Amino acid sequence: MASDRIGGLQVLFTIRRNALSAFPKRCLHEPVVRLRAAGRPLALVTAPDAIGHMMITHADDYVRLPFGRRVLGPIVGKGLLVSEGETWRQQRRAMAPAFAPRNIPIMSAHIMRCTEASCERLAQSRGRPVNLLEEMQTLSLEIAATSLFSMEAATFGPQVRALVSEYMGTVGRLYLADVFLPEGTPTRMRRRRADFRKRWTQLIASIIEARHQSGTAGAPRDLFDLLAQAHGPDRQDLLADEVSTMIVAGHETTALTLFWMCTLLAKSPEWQGMLAEEATRHDLSVAGAGKSLPKLEIARAVVQETLRLYSPGFMAGRLAKRSHEVCGVEVPEGSIVLVPFWLIHRTPQWWPNPTAFDPSRFLNDADPARHTYLPFGVGRHVCIGAQLAMSEATLAIARLAQQFTLTMRDERPVLPVATLTTRPDHAPEFVLQPRAH
Ligand code: HEM
Repeated sequence: MASDRIGGLQVLFTIRRNALSAFPKRCLHEPVVRLRAAGRPLALVTAPDAIGHMMITHADDYVRLPFGRRVLGPIVGKGLLVSEGETWRQQRRAMAPAFAPRNIPIMSAHIMRCTEASCERLAQSRGRPVNLLEEMQTLSLEIAATSLFSMEAATFGPQVRALVSEYMGTVGRLYLADVFLPEGTPTRMRRRRADFRKRWTQLIASIIEARHQSGTAGAPRDLFDLLAQAHGPDRQDLLADEVSTMIVAGHETTALTLFWMCTLLAKSPEWQGMLAEEATRHDLSVAGAGKSLPKLEIARAVVQETLRLYSPGFMAGRLAKRSHEVCGVEVPEGSIVLVPFWLIHRTPQWWPNPTAFDPSRFLNDADPARHTYLPFGVGRHVCIGAQLAMSEATLAIARLAQQFTLTMRDERPVLPVATLTTRPDHAPEFVLQPRAH
């Protein structure tokens, strides 16, 4: 965490490199910290009441930050992740049924099919070091592609993976020009994003066309069928954007959750053992996992604790459309308002011994205090895929723990670096051994 003398501009510069060291210490004690960045007011909000004010009771007065659209636009177009106001409301209403709990069994089968394949790949390592960051990215992108397009994943999966990786490493990064230059300013990055957008929309159009050729009669097979039902034939353009939104919003966040969980478990043989013991008592086959999911209490608590310590979405940002007094502090119109989940999850007042990995915090129906646990956000923009993400992470970690013991090869600490998501500073080497039962 940064010293208290850090200025607003420095916060924005540091966030771009590593957001986790950008927040001044006094955020732990003051409900709202006000700074200035390039002449613009910046507010850092951590108190539960202040979060309730901006995310729930006065959510109309705090809109998404405009530069998010520039970075996400090339891939999600006008999808739910960037829309606003009445358009957002209609999109959210249309998509909500696809994410209803009744559809989790369909998704569980896709998740387990991909996790089985991952376990087979990992078994081939036979005690040699493996790069679990890469493997978890492959696994979660396969789950995203398969749960969206079960039929077409084999044909189009590699192309989707290649373009998503290109996006993450290039045009999908936040540049200072995104924050400071007015929208529409012609830059080299703008041209590169337009070029990427063209190639991406062509790929998604080919997948949708292939799906139409194969027919959509019968029970829904995957998220695509569920989303297509929601959008109808005259909203095909939006359907393509929503499909893209699901890939982008879902895969990197889930991959990082799985990766951080592996690093935490590698240092905690005790929780690994408890996880494995629970996993062996339940049916984690493709057909049976959906029914077992609610019974995996240890696995769920391990996922929840990982999301507390390493939330892949480490903060939310909004633009204040009106001035408000928030917990006694004036937040003027035009302020950039940031809610650092990372810091809230490590505040000793809410989380005793905050840096310790202790999944028992979440056992026995433990219920964190209001607005102190926000890995999926809160209010109107709360993550629509939260249940799906929890199911993915819970089933995948249980299945991995059932088959392997996990250790890390070296003692070099793995440091979180937050850019758009909370990523590790390097990919450590893990060793997986078959678990003796
Ligand atoms: C562990 C995995 C995940 C994490 C930590 C996560 C985190 C978040 C957070 C913090 C937000 C709120 C952002 C804000 O308030 O500005 C959000 C929104 C969103 N997430 Fe997730 N997410 C995850 C997985 C997923 C998955 C699997 C999907 C879809 C398949 C998804 C789709 C979305 C969408 C569409 C939104 C925007 C919702 C709206 O504005 O109405 N996410 N997510």
